[in-house]
Amino acid sequence: MGAGIAEVLARGGLSVVGVEVNEDALERGRGHLETSTGRAVKRGRLTEDAQREILGRVALTTEFADLGDCDLVIEAVPERLDLKRTVFAELDRVCRDDAVLATNTSSLSVTDIAVGTGRPSKIVGVHFFNPAPVMKLVEVIATVLTEPDAVARVAELVKGLGKTPVTVGDRAGFVANRLLFGYLNQAASMLESGHATRDDIDTAMTVGGGLPMGPFTLMDLIGLDTCVEVLDAIYAESRDRRHAASPLLRELVTAGLLGRKTGRGFYDYDRSAAGASETAESAADGPKPVVGIVGVGPLADAIAALCDRAGAEVRDSAARLAGCDLVVEAAEDAEAGRALLSAAAQAAGPDAVLAVTSADGQVIEQAMATGRPADVVGLHLPDPAGTLAEIAATVATAPGVADRAAGIAARLGLTPVRCRDRAGFIVDALRFPYLNDAAAMLGAGYADADSIDAAMTLGCGYPTGPIADLDRLGLDRAVAVLRALHAETREPALAPVPLLTEHVAAGRPLR
Ligand code: CAA
Repeated sequence: MGAGIAEVLARGGLSVVGVEVNEDALERGRGHLETSTGRAVKRGRLTEDAQREILGRVALTTEFADLGDCDLVIEAVPERLDLKRTVFAELDRVCRDDAVLATNTSSLSVTDIAVGTGRPSKIVGVHFFNPAPVMKLVEVIATVLTEPDAVARVAELVKGLGKTPVTVGDRAGFVANRLLFGYLNQAASMLESGHATRDDIDTAMTVGGGLPMGPFTLMDLIGLDTCVEVLDAIYAESRDRRHAASPLLRELVTAGLLGRKTGRGFYDYDRSAAGASETAESAADGPKPVVGIVGVGPLADAIAALCDRAGAEVRDSAARLAGCDLVVEAAEDAEAGRALLSAAAQAAGPDAVLAVTSADGQVIEQAMATGRPADVVGLHLPDPAGTLAEIAATVATAPGVADRAAGIAARLGLTPVRCRDRAGFIVDALRFPYLNDAAAMLGAGYADADSIDAAMTLGCGYPTGPIADLDRLGLDRAVAVLRALHAETREPALAPVPLLTEHVAAGRPLR
């Protein structure tokens, strides 16, 4: 991270002094700088001359005293308060009185660091995101002790680097990590509980959630030790058990499997990880399925449209369901869906897969009502215009039926992922709690809607921010999914926050 920040500053035309603990560490830092700028040269984004200039602006040293002339010092040492305090004591000693001292901490309190120095008014947080040269967000953290001028100078400098500063107060996780890590930890718990596989969760969140990386790929990029540190810090403040690091994460950290930096974390970087998509591609090659659709409404229309696009025959009359490979119930409400699917179950052939889309509780309830629960799966398209198909097997689903459903979905041009029969399947179960947290943050006045949205789009590469997402997906839908998640888990933090229910009652979007 230190090398990434040095690169950002040098690319911005600033002279940089990089301090490391010893010569070996300096060499590694130099290596990071050369590799990262070298990648930009290879991609034609930087000329060799420009690379030389950038590297020439970074002076590397092991002496704190060489920082004596700096206007701003950014600390990026490991996340231990004792270590940070030692570094800041040294900085306090060698730096000019008017120099601003910043910490790139992602988990410690900036105030705790500031009070250990002789210049708390000049201590700020500057929080960069991984990979620092790419991500546009920098959170600038002001404590109650920081003088406004120091914050303004740092925010200006960040803008000058082509990044977007979001200035917030000193709360654990600031904006982005506070919203991101509950979601990442929940994904780890989902894996640990056997709800879905690593690959299916990652695929669901990229293909269905539109994210640039799935949660396990991202945790491996961040570093699992950092993930645990950030979660511990957020938990200490929130006392929300969703922030209690999953035992699986701790086990990986104890085993030294920290992610990309050690070659193995959730993924093994020495081996190629293909898996799910290969299966999906080979499954996509069979004959086109015959699909029965029962129920009317936008979802039924969307399913008919995707069958048309895939060249699959669609049957929507009860009399013609006998030869269908898949019969999808796509009613607008669960009560009607239950009756329709039960009737369709009588008409469908013995080899047909029956799919429930309208479960308002668990799929198993609808499955039992059909009289042939062994043939029933849940089917959820988180975005009916998208390509992800989530397939839930219940405890009564016969072995092989979910495989057949996944094969049919693949032949319809969809990307299937599997999970157990739980509220929200994968995508909604992961995204709505995160969206609820964002609404809670907005309601608490910690950050405004623009800052929250900027944090997630510019810091984590989300296509849209959570406040915009809530309006796009519908606040009534958010409240309904959250109520289902809350009813299933009784987890207090999953109950929709008052700001959401109030806006639903008022019929007004958040923006
Ligand atoms: N260092 C430098 N540059 C890198 C890089 C790295 N490690 N990885 C990728 N890049 C550059 C590439 O060179 C490329 O640059 P150009 O467009 O100029 O050619 C660009 O990034 C895109 O790279 P790719 O095409 O190879 O890959 P991609 O399109 O899959 O994007 C990504 C990669 C930018 C990392 C993208 O997947 C993404 O946005 N992921 C989300 C990352 C995220 O959430 N970060 C925040 C984590 S939380 C955190 O860091 C805070 C904390 O406190 C823990």
